[in-house]
Amino acid sequence: PSAANGDTSSRGLWSSRLAFILAVTGSSVGLGNVWKFPYITGENGGGAFVLVYLACIAVIGIPILMAEVFLGRNGRHNPITSMRLVAERNLASPLWRVSAIVGMIAAFVILSFYSVIGGWAAAYIGHGATGDFVGGNPDTINAMFGNLLASPGELLLWHSLFMALVVLVVSRGLKKGLERSVTILMPALFVLLLVAVGYATTTGHFGEAVTFLFRPDFGKLSINGVLIALGHAFFTLSLGMAIMMAYGSYLGRDVSIGRTAVIVGVTDTLVALLAGLAIFPVVFANNLEAGAGPGLIFQTLPLAFGQMPMGSLFGTLFFVLLVFAAWTSAISLLEPVVEWVEEKTTLGRSGSAMLVGFLCWALGIVSILSLNLWSDVTPLAMFERFEGKTFFDLMDYFTANVMLPLSGMLTALFVGWCVARESLKQDVGLDGKLFGVWYGLTRYVTPVAVAVVFVYNLLS
Ligand code: PHE
Ligand code: NA
Repeated sequence: PSAANGDTSSRGLWSSRLAFILAVTGSSVGLGNVWKFPYITGENGGGAFVLVYLACIAVIGIPILMAEVFLGRNGRHNPITSMRLVAERNLASPLWRVSAIVGMIAAFVILSFYSVIGGWAAAYIGHGATGDFVGGNPDTINAMFGNLLASPGELLLWHSLFMALVVLVVSRGLKKGLERSVTILMPALFVLLLVAVGYATTTGHFGEAVTFLFRPDFGKLSINGVLIALGHAFFTLSLGMAIMMAYGSYLGRDVSIGRTAVIVGVTDTLVALLAGLAIFPVVFANNLEAGAGPGLIFQTLPLAFGQMPMGSLFGTLFFVLLVFAAWTSAISLLEPVVEWVEEKTTLGRSGSAMLVGFLCWALGIVSILSLNLWSDVTPLAMFERFEGKTFFDLMDYFTANVMLPLSGMLTALFVGWCVARESLKQDVGLDGKLFGVWYGLTRYVTPVAVAVVFVYNLLS
C-alpha cells in the first residue's frame, strides 16, 4: 500500500484492508459482547436499554471509531504522539492528548478485571470437556459457578494463566499468527453462537426473549441505564482507549475509514445480539433471573449445552472460542500501554510487557477478592446507585461509564472542532452527504449527548 503523510516505510502497514478489519474485529469482539451485553441488558430491563444501546453504536460509536482511526492514520505514531502531531498541524493545543492518556489508564484498569473474567471462561473449557454440563439443572449449574467464585485460588490460577498468554503475545509481537487465527476462529464463534440460538428456539421461550430484547418499555430504563448503554457502546467497540488510534497508525491510505468502521460496528453488534438471543430464552425457560448480574452467561449457557445433542463438544468449543475472543481483545488492551512504557523507559519490548502485565495482574487480585473474601466490601455504598457494588463492580462502572465516554468526547471535540475540515474530508473516505452527517455527529451530537447524559446522572 502507498503511504503519504510523511509516512516512514520502516513503520510498516497492515498487509491488507482485511488484515486491518480482522485486527479491529479481534479487539472489538470479546467478553463485552458475550458476557457483558447480556447481563447489563438483563439488569436494565431489556428492550429500551437495547434500543438506546443500538442508537449509541450508530450515532456515537461508529463515528468515534472513524475519528480515532483517522487520528492514528494522520499522526502515524503512538496515540499520544499522534494526537500531538495532528494538533500541531492544525495549530491546536497539544493538551488534547489527555484524551489518549485517560484512555490508557482506563485500558490498564479494564485489562485487570477483563483477565479475571477471561479466566472464568477458561475454567469452563474444563467443565465442558469433562461433561459437567450434561444433564445439569439450574441448581447444579449455579453451584458450579458459585464454587468457582468462592475459590480465590482457582480464580487466581486462571487469571494468571490468561494474563500470561496475553503478555506472551504482546512481548513477542506475534501479530501475524493472530491475524490468521482471527480469520478462522471469529467466524467459528459466530457459528457456535448460532448453534446456541438454534437450541434456544426449541425452549419454547424464544418469543418471550425476542419481546424482552426488542420491545422497548421505557418505564424500565433509568437514567443510570442510559449511561450504562452509552458506556457499553464505547467498551464494546474498544473506543476511548486510543486503541483504534494505535491500529489506525498502521493503516494504508487506500482504505476507506468510513466503510471499515461500519463493517466492524455491525459485526460487533450482531455478535452481541446473537448472544442475547442465545441466553434469554434459556433464562425464561428455567425461571432464572434476567438481572442475575455478571454470572448470567455462566449460569445459562451451560444449561443449554447440557441439554442439546453433542452439548459437551459444542460447550467446550464455545468456551475455547470465547477465551480466544477475550484474548485478542486483551492483547489490544495491553498493547498501547506497553508501547508507551517501551518508549519512555529502557526496559525494551518484553521488559515493558512483563512490567505492565505484572502490575495489571496484581490489580486483578482486587477483582478476584471482590468475588469472595471482599464480597461485602462496598466502598461507595453511601451513594444509592453504588449500593452493593464491590471494587470489581466499581472498576467496571467507572472505566466503562465515565472514563471511556469522557475520553471519547474529547476525541470528538478535537476532531470535530480543531482538525481542518478539508483534511478530514480527504482522509475519512465518505462522500458528500455522508461526510456531512459524520461531521455533524462528531462535532455536535457526540459531545452534547455525552455531556447531557453525564449531567443528568450527576443530578439524579
Ligand atoms: N471491546 C472488547 C469487548 O467487547 C473489550 C475491550 C474494551 C477491548 C476496551 C479493548 C479495549 O470485549
Ligand atoms: Na465488543
